[in-house]
Amino acid sequence: MKIAIASDHAGFGLKEEIVKFLKSKHIEPLDLGTYSEASVDYPDYAEKVADAIITHKAEKGILVCGTGIGMSVSANKKRGIIAALVYSEYTAEMAAKHNMANVITLGARTMNKDDALKYVDIWIHTPFEGGRHEHRVKKVRDIESKKR
Ligand code: RB5
Repeated sequence: MKIAIASDHAGFGLKEEIVKFLKSKHIEPLDLGTYSEASVDYPDYAEKVADAIITHKAEKGILVCGTGIGMSVSANKKRGIIAALVYSEYTAEMAAKHNMANVITLGARTMNKDDALKYVDIWIHTPFEGGRHEHRVKKVRDIESKKR
């Protein structure tokens, strides 16, 4: 599985840790930056990861900023992206199981590294439950296709 990953300056340190973690689990990260703590704008990086998924360069994506909020609102503007702001083991599980999130966003200033890695691991390994959630996710997609 290939996972696209990016961060802004606030998420840079945690993004680097997640890249190492993915490699240790034999999951190939597609690291789209940023590559230092120099100030950048989170929407640019959210768009890079979203585009990598839309063009099938990666199956899923992880985005890190200070809170995870900026990355989440930005990635969700892109057609085909369901970006879930994850902040606990439960939300990591549900993002995959119920929401079929193909992107998770994490806040480097709102969680510690060990918790963040745990959330990534849970999200990656939790399958979509389908059933009633299939039809709810389809409704989400319908909203997207009616977007004005
Ligand atoms: C950068 O200071 C911060 O605003 C950004 O990382 C993010 O938290 C925005 O949602």
